[in-house]
Amino acid sequence: MSSWWVTAEIYHEIIDCLVAALEAKDPYTKGHSTRVADLAYELGGKAGLREEALEDLHLAAHLHDIGKIGIPDGILNKNGPLLPEEQTIIREHPVIGYQILGQSSQLRHLAEIILYHHERWDGLGYPLGLKGEAIPFSSRIIAICDAVDAMSSARPYRKPLSPEECWRELRANRGRQFDPALVELLPELPLFQRAIDHALPSRPSAETAVTGRLQTVAALSAKRARAHAG
Ligand SMILES: [Fe+2]
Ligand SMILES: [Fe+2]
Repeated sequence: MSSWWVTAEIYHEIIDCLVAALEAKDPYTKGHSTRVADLAYELGGKAGLREEALEDLHLAAHLHDIGKIGIPDGILNKNGPLLPEEQTIIREHPVIGYQILGQSSQLRHLAEIILYHHERWDGLGYPLGLKGEAIPFSSRIIAICDAVDAMSSARPYRKPLSPEECWRELRANRGRQFDPALVELLPELPLFQRAIDHALPSRPSAETAVTGRLQTVAALSAKRARAHAG
């Protein structure tokens, strides 16, 4: 059996390369993947995920939109709302992402998470229309964090929502678009407060979240190395 061993840090760097490839094609989403990943890490931790499950959530959140690599530039970078037929095409990105990551036995479990990041709690999402707890827990977390970042970011054709509008929107969609229990946890997250606070000039990753994640990575690396040695 092959003796190669990829550390969690290298694994993460490879994922950063994939995300950079997407951001080169779609510069408008620059930073989106990282912000969603950091917020998902915080929400996942608050919701009780630990160790591998939390790290997998973080990596999957980084990669959640990787399937947009397969979407034509004219649609991806369109300076305005999408036509219905363009929406149909862009809605293929979770399946494209699933197919890309499914190529790797090391990333296949992340492919499952990103396949469902546009499902809705009420079953009206895509690609499969899964409902409620049938949607993988990590996918439900990414769905909320993705929406928070979309609402709190400017688009060429609209301003970011105010903190009040953002919170109203999230609460109005509890049990419709989002897992209601997860929405309730958001106000306790420092990164959520920062995401919706437009008074801040920039929204870098919270040092606490990054430090916490690095500690998890170090602990996982040590654990996997011990398992590998044994
Ligand atoms: Fe997406
Ligand atoms: Fe996204």
